[in-house]
Amino acid sequence: MISPFTQLLLQWNKTSNDRPMPWKGESDPYKIWLSEIILQQTRVEQGWAYYEKFVKKYPTIFQLAKAKDEQVFKLWEGLGYYNRCRNLLHTARYIVKQHKGFFPKTYDELLALKGIGPYTAAAIASFAFNLPYAVVDGNVFRVFSRYYGISLPIDTGEGIKYFNQVAAENLARTKAGIYNQALMDFGATVCKPSAPLCSACMLQKGCVAFATNQTNVLPIKLKQIQKKKRQFDFFIFNYKQQYMIQKRGGEDIWAGLYQFYLVQNDALPKDNTLYLNQVLQQQLGMAKKDILHALISKPVNQLLTHQQLTVRFIQVALKTKPAALSKALWVTKSKLRTYPFPKLIVDFLTTL
Ligand code: ADE
Ligand code: SF4
Repeated sequence: MISPFTQLLLQWNKTSNDRPMPWKGESDPYKIWLSEIILQQTRVEQGWAYYEKFVKKYPTIFQLAKAKDEQVFKLWEGLGYYNRCRNLLHTARYIVKQHKGFFPKTYDELLALKGIGPYTAAAIASFAFNLPYAVVDGNVFRVFSRYYGISLPIDTGEGIKYFNQVAAENLARTKAGIYNQALMDFGATVCKPSAPLCSACMLQKGCVAFATNQTNVLPIKLKQIQKKKRQFDFFIFNYKQQYMIQKRGGEDIWAGLYQFYLVQNDALPKDNTLYLNQVLQQQLGMAKKDILHALISKPVNQLLTHQQLTVRFIQVALKTKPAALSKALWVTKSKLRTYPFPKLIVDFLTTL
């Protein structure tokens, strides 16, 4: 049984969906997987270019599996959440080693791969193998919440369970791939997060949110995530055309990427002079005469999923290389560009 919703959606897809995207209609699971992992990170407009870069440099899973970690990080630069990039590499290598380079062809095996959750497993299963699994993401929550007038919060266990059920019931089981892509496209181009195009919407007649003027309040979210506040100061030490950088370690954000010397605080220091003195002289043992100048940038804010960062860049020109940092990595300005940095640092470097 196909619901009226599904009928209308497929009809819209056939007659009016003209959203071009390079991975659309693709049946190579490797490329579908790549596109979905990239699109977890970013909007389609930006993801497009990353997808093409990746497919060009690594046309098959074998090339990706063989690539050097840092080369792949470099290509990923700007997308953020480097754990996803690490998982991408891990899974490519795993599939080459354990499955001779072939993606597994069942939902459960796909789900068991690192970095692949229910959403991505359903996307690959349906797009590559036309298996009857419904994708459920923010787009899908929004479209169903509005069309059926569901006011259960989408960020509670009960809500998620219910929306998954609705998604499964509406799935066009014999053309799951086309249906899933249509649903995503519809959510992105017609039933958009803000200002949905209701007046031109082919599903308007049956839409509860439209009939009850609730398009601006649905879907409902219960809690806004509490964000932890962190303050980072990157000290850009400059000695005779060389800059000191360091590689970030394991557990925290940006693991494996490079950065300038980092001092972390809970909040912005109150007295900059005192603070510089504390870091440069007390902590790093520099002599006052060796510090040519120290220039503090304006604080920049960045919101991550669970954290709120306030970041400053402090350019410090040095007359001698400090003993405490003599073992550190010092590179020239032109070499700097070859290391992968968090986007925030890349952005700052381009202003220099
Ligand atoms: N977002 C995630 N996957 C997508 C896809 N296949 N098409 C459009 N947007 C997406
Ligand atoms: Fe979404 Fe508006 Fe169409 Fe309802 S009428 S499905 S709210 S775009």
